[in-house]
Amino acid sequence: MQPEFTPLVWPDDADAAVDFLVADEWPFHGTPRLDREQAAGLSLGGHDVAAFWVRVDGVPVGLIRAFDLDDIPSGSPLLDIRLAAPYRGRGIGVLAVRWLTDHLFTRHALLVRIEATTRHDNTAMQTVLTRCGYRLEGRLVEAWVNDDGTRADSLIYGLLRREWASVN
Ligand SMILES: CC(C)(COP(=O)(O)OP(=O)(O)OC[C@H]1O[C@@H](n2cnc3c(N)ncnc32)[C@H](O)[C@@H]1OP(=O)(O)O)[C@@H](O)C(=O)NCCC(=O)NCCS
Repeated sequence: MQPEFTPLVWPDDADAAVDFLVADEWPFHGTPRLDREQAAGLSLGGHDVAAFWVRVDGVPVGLIRAFDLDDIPSGSPLLDIRLAAPYRGRGIGVLAVRWLTDHLFTRHALLVRIEATTRHDNTAMQTVLTRCGYRLEGRLVEAWVNDDGTRADSLIYGLLRREWASVN
């Protein structure tokens, strides 16, 4: 399955992005079921966000984004990826994170590092990040707040430009 990545055009694609986000469940995000207002409140576009559709045969099956691009070069953009349930577990996550990583380092000459956080029990995302060269840098104990008020540990991953460049 060969996914393609196309820019999420802001604000033209806002409604389509909200439709996509409310149609599925996100078990490893703080709010697993988003209503339209919550979905519209996510950072989907704007000057410091790079957001892309993940498409298979032209059909949008996921969203992948990087935030905090304004903080380059001192800051580290953060990744988020959401694939529709029928498209999980098919290898798309690795291709998408690899693609966005290449895109960010290629597009932003001053970018030094990229970060990603994931809940401690999101094994698939941890595997994806490791496969894409990201290093587990720490465990933030009870830093993750779930919708119901319970807390979980966050794992933080990072990848430096020089590490990325050494394999590209
Ligand atoms: C997390 C996510 C991006 C992973 O992408 P994916 O395409 O499903 O993952 P892949 O198919 O590339 O699988 C990567 C590895 O994780 C493993 N994996 C996949 N789903 C898994 C699961 N539920 N539990 C344990 N391992 C799993 C796969 O087996 C694969 O390892 P393998 O090649 O050794 O078999 C995707 O499942 C997703 O969008 N989930 C919902 C949203 C989410 O959790 N986003 C991350 C927020 S931080």
